[in-house]
Amino acid sequence: MPEPPHVEPVSPPRVLITAGPTHEPIDSVRYLANRSSGKMGIALAEASSARGWTTTLLLGPSALRPADSSHLTVHRFRTTADLQQRLQQSWPQHDWLIMAAAVADYRPKPASEAKLRRTSTKMTLELEPTPDLLAELAAGSRPDQRRIGFALEPADELVERARDKLARKSLDAIVANPLKTMDANEIEAILLFADGAEISSNGSLSKSAGAKWILDTIFARLTSPG
Ligand code: CTP
Repeated sequence: MPEPPHVEPVSPPRVLITAGPTHEPIDSVRYLANRSSGKMGIALAEASSARGWTTTLLLGPSALRPADSSHLTVHRFRTTADLQQRLQQSWPQHDWLIMAAAVADYRPKPASEAKLRRTSTKMTLELEPTPDLLAELAAGSRPDQRRIGFALEPADELVERARDKLARKSLDAIVANPLKTMDANEIEAILLFADGAEISSNGSLSKSAGAKWILDTIFARLTSPG
């Protein structure tokens, strides 16, 4: 009888997930933020840890939190700079990064330490671009590490813009979703892979079902040999 082919066991990935908005201080009491709720990243962290995968969630200023799990560690961040530091510390100990956080594109420059006072004259805020955290990590990644981004885009240019981000940020995959996904309970997504594959969720899923679908699809494609 011929020997069965040798199949390497696939070890579970150690997953680093980011979720929620960033708050970029304007002064000691005010900040710039966006409407991200953190729901999608939290659902991903719950789904990943429920599989027994070692999971770290870097969670921004969200009112929500994940269910406790012995497989899940949560660290909080507030600003893009905090998240940048956390990512640099955590990434080497993980295999996958799923970047669901809605990172600010601009931040006030410089933030005032004191509380700004109201006057009768116009105020202008100067903003500086934030670093692109995902793109930055590409250079410091091991060849076996996988980076997955999110792209929230207008429905009529969803795939084109998401493909552009996939290439620009050197990602293995990107979850493309229409703008209505932000702050919603449901997700409708197309997963785009660096090899050109496109897999659609075929309609809306709850964020918890969407998280399982994303993990299953990524696991099947990114861990299959060849
Ligand atoms: N992202 C990041 N660092 C930033 C901005 C975004 O790592 N400073 C990540 C997001 O977490 C997401 C992906 O990049 O996974 C795409 O984010 P998006 O805001 O859609 O892309 P931008 O690069 O900001 O492009 P644009 O403003 O043109 O949409």
